[in-house]
Amino acid sequence: MAFMKKVNFFFQLNILVTFLFLFVFPASTGELQRLKHPGNTDGPLSILVVGDWGRRGTYNQSHVAHQMGIIGEELNIDFVVSTGDNFYDNGLTGVDDPAFEESFTNVYNAPSLQKTWYNVLGNHDYRGDALAQLSPILKQRDSRWICLRSYIVNTDVAEFFFVDTTPFQDMYFTTPKNHTYDWRDILPRQNYLFEVLKDLDSALRESNAKWKIVVGHHTIKSAGHHGNSVELELQLLPILQANNVDFYLNGHDHCLEHISSADSPLQFLTSGGGSKSWRGDVNWWNPNEMKFYYDGQGFMAMQITQTQVWIQFFDIFGNILHKWSASKNLYSIM
Ligand SMILES: *[C@@H]1O[C@H](CO)[C@@H](O)[C@H](O)[C@H]1NC(C)=O
Ligand SMILES: *[C@@H]1O[C@H](CO)[C@@H](O)[C@H](O)[C@H]1NC(C)=O
Repeated sequence: MAFMKKVNFFFQLNILVTFLFLFVFPASTGELQRLKHPGNTDGPLSILVVGDWGRRGTYNQSHVAHQMGIIGEELNIDFVVSTGDNFYDNGLTGVDDPAFEESFTNVYNAPSLQKTWYNVLGNHDYRGDALAQLSPILKQRDSRWICLRSYIVNTDVAEFFFVDTTPFQDMYFTTPKNHTYDWRDILPRQNYLFEVLKDLDSALRESNAKWKIVVGHHTIKSAGHHGNSVELELQLLPILQANNVDFYLNGHDHCLEHISSADSPLQFLTSGGGSKSWRGDVNWWNPNEMKFYYDGQGFMAMQITQTQVWIQFFDIFGNILHKWSASKNLYSIM
């Protein structure tokens, strides 16, 4: 009798658990594609971050690439993050566009940069064949290339959440000027944005990574040419703050920039100096939040352990323009 009760109990427990997973925690199955990148076993996770780059080496793109090669070697990097606008002016024309080699493979040719590149799409990428950049065919042409719309990269010490920010920007839909955008698989837009935000929120919520890093093309906060993205401030920022995200990395403004938050630990890091730069227009920003602004070319490096993050911004000569670090108690639960 007791045995039967036990069986019955476990049977019911089983049904309960199944019910919970199917109906109460459906998001825990994870809608965003997840990639694993364990990283070097000794030393910190080291990465480079570059954005707004693909111009066949011109506008100092090759010089930035050369320094990335040197710093990448010194830091023994695990991978590279691209914050988008991968191919100017109008993305790729298709999976066989020679711009892929001319602006990527042949430019970032240093041995230390022969690591995985995790890319997002920028607004210029949407002006061409956006699906081409997402196609696995590109990985056959250069095995470093990974580009998805929104996805997660899990490392041992940090979790990276890549977000497709171009469809959030109203102006590309309302006043597209003379540009056309490749909105295949994006429309209806409101459904797409809703899904991205929902999936990101649930992935962030269930993450127990020590450091949470979100990457998108567009700025949330920036003193540069484009300034803040109102859409992302309204829709994305509250999700980052509610889930204790540590860093938001972006491009779009062609500069290097570090803005901190007065009311949260979230740091806004712009690495958009991969090629054309020097726009000269900088808007006033509260000096308590503005840690660094450089209206020229360069890139960013990050090193991450369980307890500490170091960031450094470099110019095209390899000078360190800005350094910053943050630490967390090994046992603190964020
Ligand atoms: C290349 O970089 C140098 C040094 O920062 C700068 O003076 C020059 O204007 C840059 N060239 C272009 C085309 O941006
Ligand atoms: C669109 O292109 C036409 C012809 O090249 C040009 O005259 C016009 O100023 C452009 N409009 C905008 C909004 O850029």
